[in-house]
Amino acid sequence: MNPSSVYARRRALLAEKIGAGGIAIIPTAPEQQRNRDSDFPYRADSYFYYLTGFTEPKAWLVVTGDGRSTLFCQPKDLEREIWDGYRLGPTAAPAQLALDAAHSVAELDAQLPALIDGRDAVWYPFATHQGLETRIDGWLGGLRARVRYGALCPQTQRDLCGVLDEMRLVKDAYEQATMHRAGQISASAHMRAMQVAANMLRAGQEVREYHLEAELLHEFRRHGSQFPAYGSIVAAGANACVLHYRADRGLLRDGELVLIDAACELDGYASDITRTFPANGKFTGPQRTLYELVLAAQEAAIAATKAGARFTDPHDAAVKVLAQGMLDVGLLDKNKVGSLDDVIEKRAYFQFYMHRTGHWIGMDVHDCGDYTEPGEIGQVSTRQDALTGDTIKDRPARILRAGMALTIEPGIYVRPAEGVPEHFHNIGIRIEDDAIVTDTGCELLTRDVPVGVAEIEALMRGGVESGKS
Ligand code: GLY
Ligand code: MN
Ligand code: MN
Repeated sequence: MNPSSVYARRRALLAEKIGAGGIAIIPTAPEQQRNRDSDFPYRADSYFYYLTGFTEPKAWLVVTGDGRSTLFCQPKDLEREIWDGYRLGPTAAPAQLALDAAHSVAELDAQLPALIDGRDAVWYPFATHQGLETRIDGWLGGLRARVRYGALCPQTQRDLCGVLDEMRLVKDAYEQATMHRAGQISASAHMRAMQVAANMLRAGQEVREYHLEAELLHEFRRHGSQFPAYGSIVAAGANACVLHYRADRGLLRDGELVLIDAACELDGYASDITRTFPANGKFTGPQRTLYELVLAAQEAAIAATKAGARFTDPHDAAVKVLAQGMLDVGLLDKNKVGSLDDVIEKRAYFQFYMHRTGHWIGMDVHDCGDYTEPGEIGQVSTRQDALTGDTIKDRPARILRAGMALTIEPGIYVRPAEGVPEHFHNIGIRIEDDAIVTDTGCELLTRDVPVGVAEIEALMRGGVESGKS
């Protein structure tokens, strides 16, 4: 948990950005029912948490351009606290959270018009909270009805997402430390899953995808992670070629690969790791060939990740290596697809590599932040996509700066098809690590889990017992 001064500093910066006449209104996330009398585990809204560190539901933050912060939160209520747990309450909140004022959330409708009165712009996250616009319309309408009594209604509504997204894009020291720890926990979970797979197979036990998911979840939670950062993918054999596969009941077979894309969220921050390994701990020749190709692509992408480079540079570097490799190993026939330049220009590699090489990561696993460089947004060029014929608008990609965090995750997915060498059929490989951009390169947060062929095989030879904690 970060000290309250960290959140106070972020709110002060927000106040500066909305200007002296602005007011920002940020609700936290609603509670979500899963089914009768049973809710999904509660998770605060990322913007709200970024500015408060407060995890209770039914809360709103109001920041005014003069730098004042007011929280509306659940009031103390002994009976509700007996059922639902401790509430901080508005009396304790200002000192605990370094706020200027706090009130019961029941007072929101009564207090908001007065807080908005006299401001020139209302800022709130557009199109993110169902019903928020209506709520704000109500407060503005109430204020307008009082103009004869001297009330001043703002003339402007502004989207807060852009401002907060820019702030969140560059991670401060506290965020980086939390992401480091999340990466370490997730790495240890991957190691555990690798070792358990090999160990159970060696012992002649049946191993299914859900056995490995259980090991991952165990490891996340025992280190204090509150949630998985996203639905865990544990894909045995051909299932790895389904990009959004989830851990199910597929059987791990001797001689096949397992792809695990799973990672934890810690104190509001995601990690995101993929490793692909042989179920029995030993790569076959074709598996190793493709694995080393994906690893070389990842290394090229990592080398291209540094301050001053464009967000698309790691992807372009990975594609170049993958496309050349596809020609070299015979996945693509150069008599049909032509040279490396042709493969890239016509996107022939797309048959085996159909996703981007990374995304921003932070509080959300696919974190907020524009992928276009803000100062160059007007420089649009249009082109026809080589495969689909769609018209694509290209704008200059974001220039990477120290403190930005992104994943680097190339892959190869070989579905059986005519002309595709049979020994590669049904192999799906992805390797994914999380990186923080530095002035000279990038720092990988998730490399405690081995990634080289020899290191993975060595780890899996020295397997631990299933259930060891
Ligand atoms: N696990 C989600 C992703 O890799 O983007
Ligand atoms: Mn990812
Ligand atoms: Mn992932």
